[in-house]
Amino acid sequence: MLNAITRGVSPAISRCELSFIDRKPIDLARAREQHQAYEVLLAKLGSRVISLPPEPDLPDSMFVEDPAIVLDEIAVILPLGTESRRGEAPSLAKELSKYRKLVYVELPGTLEGGDVLRIGRKLFVGLTKRSNAEGVRQLAEIVKPHGYEVISVAVTGCLHLKSAVTCIADNALLANRAWFDTTPFAGYEWIDVDPSEPHAANALAIGGTIVLPTSFPRTRGRIGSLDYRVTPLDISELQKAEAGLTCSSLLFETFSHSARNP
Ligand code: GLY
Repeated sequence: MLNAITRGVSPAISRCELSFIDRKPIDLARAREQHQAYEVLLAKLGSRVISLPPEPDLPDSMFVEDPAIVLDEIAVILPLGTESRRGEAPSLAKELSKYRKLVYVELPGTLEGGDVLRIGRKLFVGLTKRSNAEGVRQLAEIVKPHGYEVISVAVTGCLHLKSAVTCIADNALLANRAWFDTTPFAGYEWIDVDPSEPHAANALAIGGTIVLPTSFPRTRGRIGSLDYRVTPLDISELQKAEAGLTCSSLLFETFSHSARNP
């Protein structure tokens, strides 16, 4: 079964971290409505949504993708690259401990889940202001016994690696190739965002559907014309907090005993 952990929008969201966009007022009620619509869509697309309560004092805490990576075998709890967000991990770790053995990356390593793009047994990890080489080194050591390869990717133009590239099907990457070093991705098929929509690469592929923010109609048209099933979702209020679509959920499978040990 596919599970999606989410967390309600914090009443403090207007004090969120911002790195690559300017601050604008955020309407909390509208942000909450959009987040609820996101949760409804996740459920409609086949996931069991586990919605954690909002954290009143942690402005960015709805971005549950960042404090952890969930693999089939373990969950890796991460020291976030910005100090104001480090308090987000413990309650998420508590929830994840119901499903996976927990393993920790430790400071001075820093790592955020938004920088980790998993494709099969490969973990592409963005080197950004949030994720450093020591964090990547520790992650590689942790996941190697489980058969994962960690590949560093230099990112320059955006917050996280997945702000610039996501995997939307088998071998196909939706990307803004100006923002990262594409060399480690040799052999993948590229679908480029429309040049007028540089932030459009963060798509959520789930249950055979690709979800893309309504604010990127040209990129949506490009993907749709390639015969993918694309669903738009309005996250315009959340985008003021530098949200993408992947960052507001932590997706992972749970396996029945018979499925894992046939
Ligand atoms: N506001 C999202 C982040 O900076 O982590």
